[in-house]
Amino acid sequence: MQSELDTMESAALAEIAASADLRELDTLRVTLLGKAGTVTVALKSLGTLKPEVRRERGAAINALRDRLTLAIAARRNALETDILKARLAAERIDVSLPARPAPQGSIHPISRTLEELTALFGAMGFVVHDGPDIENDWYNFGALNIPAHHPARAMMDTFYLKSSGHARPMVLRTHTSPLQIRTMLEETPPIRIIVPGRTYRSDHDATHSPMFHQCEGLVIDRAITLGHLKGCLMDFLRAYFERPNLRARFRASYFPFTEPSIEIDIAWNRRTGEIGEGSDWLEILGAGMVHPNVLANCGIDAREFQGFAFGMGVERITMLKHGIPDLRAFYEGDIRWLTHYGSSALTPVALHEGSPR
Ligand code: DAH
Repeated sequence: MQSELDTMESAALAEIAASADLRELDTLRVTLLGKAGTVTVALKSLGTLKPEVRRERGAAINALRDRLTLAIAARRNALETDILKARLAAERIDVSLPARPAPQGSIHPISRTLEELTALFGAMGFVVHDGPDIENDWYNFGALNIPAHHPARAMMDTFYLKSSGHARPMVLRTHTSPLQIRTMLEETPPIRIIVPGRTYRSDHDATHSPMFHQCEGLVIDRAITLGHLKGCLMDFLRAYFERPNLRARFRASYFPFTEPSIEIDIAWNRRTGEIGEGSDWLEILGAGMVHPNVLANCGIDAREFQGFAFGMGVERITMLKHGIPDLRAFYEGDIRWLTHYGSSALTPVALHEGSPR
């Protein structure tokens, strides 16, 4: 009798230990301890036994039931721990994963060109100046030796502001040249400045916008010559366009505020759009030696000091450098355009003055 219970116990314990999951274990529990389970049936059969046998066997079966109950509980525990472990492993968050980079903005090509102008002329000792977008017509025209009848003064080119009690007509500055006057009035030579900034003209088509950017340059000192102008601007153009062998021509021109006046064309290939070489020429900036009348208007003695000035369109040099066909896109804020032509905020401006690549 006893050994029959022993056999049953060791078989049951082996099955409990071998049960692979909670469901199997539960089926086993019902088979052993459920209403019709083996152990229950054995207990029920006690009634048919003689009282003296019954007591002993009853105690043995009860003890067996307790041990099996414990073994099942222990196995359930172990299975549940395994499940938990598996879940923890599966749902583990790997905190060592690098963060997914957030979408990044980019630097507008105009801003990037302004940074580059500042870096390149900064390396040549120029200081950045700025001034008001709303100028009086003396700074914008008169002091720059631009005569009253000059076409630049016409309403069709210039935005005049309604008179608001100012002594002189006020205009949205049509160029950055008024800063030549402001600087020479405020500072004594030597002067070496650039003026990147917004300018305004009543113009609107694929290559003109009513608001655009220029960069002015002014150098005043005792013995400044056209040679300095030429060297300075060649260095600048070669570095900015990253073409150490860029060819340019200096062509006689006319501006009221310079004498002599020149315009600079750079070589390019009309067919391929390549800058710096080729048999076509692109006008890129105006320049000249500061006119003695302009110096006089600023109280600078032209017998002691002279210098050169230059002015260029920021949009224009940006379009040429990056092959941007339409000026209007600069101000439309189209995210696809900005992503394509914008540059990374984390990439520093790295241009090298005229050094071969
Ligand atoms: N102010 C001129 C313009 O807007 C550009 C310019 C030409 C500026 C010659 C200069 C210069 O300083 O010397 O068209």
